[in-house]
Amino acid sequence: MAIGAFCIGTNQIDLKTATKKGIAVFNAPFSNTRSVVELAIAEMIMLMRNIVDKSVKMHQGKWDKSASGSFEVRGKKLGIIGYGNIGTQLSVLAESIGMKVLYYDIEEKLSLGNAIRCKSMKEVLEHADVVSLHVDGRKSNHNLISHREFNWMRPGVIFINLARGHVVDIPALKENILSGKIAGCSVDVFPYEPVSNNEEFISELRGLPNTILTPHIGGSTVEAQENIGNYVPGKIMDYINTGSTSNSVNFPNLVLPTLENAHRLIHIHDNVPGILARINQSLADHNINIVGQYLKTNESIGYVITDIDKEYNKDVIKELRGIEHTIKFRVLY
Ligand code: NAI
Repeated sequence: MAIGAFCIGTNQIDLKTATKKGIAVFNAPFSNTRSVVELAIAEMIMLMRNIVDKSVKMHQGKWDKSASGSFEVRGKKLGIIGYGNIGTQLSVLAESIGMKVLYYDIEEKLSLGNAIRCKSMKEVLEHADVVSLHVDGRKSNHNLISHREFNWMRPGVIFINLARGHVVDIPALKENILSGKIAGCSVDVFPYEPVSNNEEFISELRGLPNTILTPHIGGSTVEAQENIGNYVPGKIMDYINTGSTSNSVNFPNLVLPTLENAHRLIHIHDNVPGILARINQSLADHNINIVGQYLKTNESIGYVITDIDKEYNKDVIKELRGIEHTIKFRVLY
């Protein structure tokens, strides 16, 4: 009936086939948002202070006490590319520690707090002291940040990628770290990531100065795991018990009122014309009154919930089930 992805990404699920078979897929789109944001904040502070290199030197017995090249983040401009769940949350926390936020998103978004929306990514990159990527992994974002984009950035910029590995051109990033254009960098996601903890991590970024590398753990906290463990089963239970598909990845999203003294019929069908009319005709033929009806479609399926106010007989159920192009049908109460 349903598939739960206990994570954000759903690449591992054949969504097309699931949809065609009438299986609703749920994920946890913002259960680990805060964890990623906290890491981004922590990393920009560490990078602005050159802490990584200083710590490495200390472990080698080298005492390098100096204020040179160390800055506060307060008053600095944070450029956020991708103002979605993570980008907006980061915007709020960054402002609360005194940063000025600029952002660019391909979609029109509500600017939170005092954040300023820029008309292009170029505009953000040209002005930001810290650039943090929070775009999604759509194909067109492959190498979103490459030589041209690094050229747009200010000298001494701090660059953070906790989004997706393939959005950054790694050789271009390496070149800009080595040239000193990027003063500090942190990367959590890579074009290729080891499939297990036993596989060696191989990357051109290993050993570069003031560069934090982490094994895709931006969202990996105990709190996030707990949130995911509550959120996904909650969505599946809602779907089973009420038919609600709110935040489903592949189903038309329907949020339904709770039902009292009525029966709920749930019909999933191929998105072809005339199905709603067929459903309603069958109900009318059996003299059944509809107290509420909700229909939503996407490009491949239609999802109809019909609440009726009286006992139904088996014939009408059989008829509804038999409507051509029906994928799934169930009666809730
Ligand atoms: P989201 O879908 O809420 O936000 C993504 C935003 O990026 C959307 O507003 C979208 O319109 C925008 N966008 C897409 N392409 C763009 C472009 N070329 N230029 C400007 N804006 C663009 O996603 P969410 O939850 O904020 O996650 C952001 C990224 O963080 C995703 O790639 C996700 O996979 C990654 N992530 C990484 C984690 C980690 O462990 N490092 C954990 C959680 C998420």
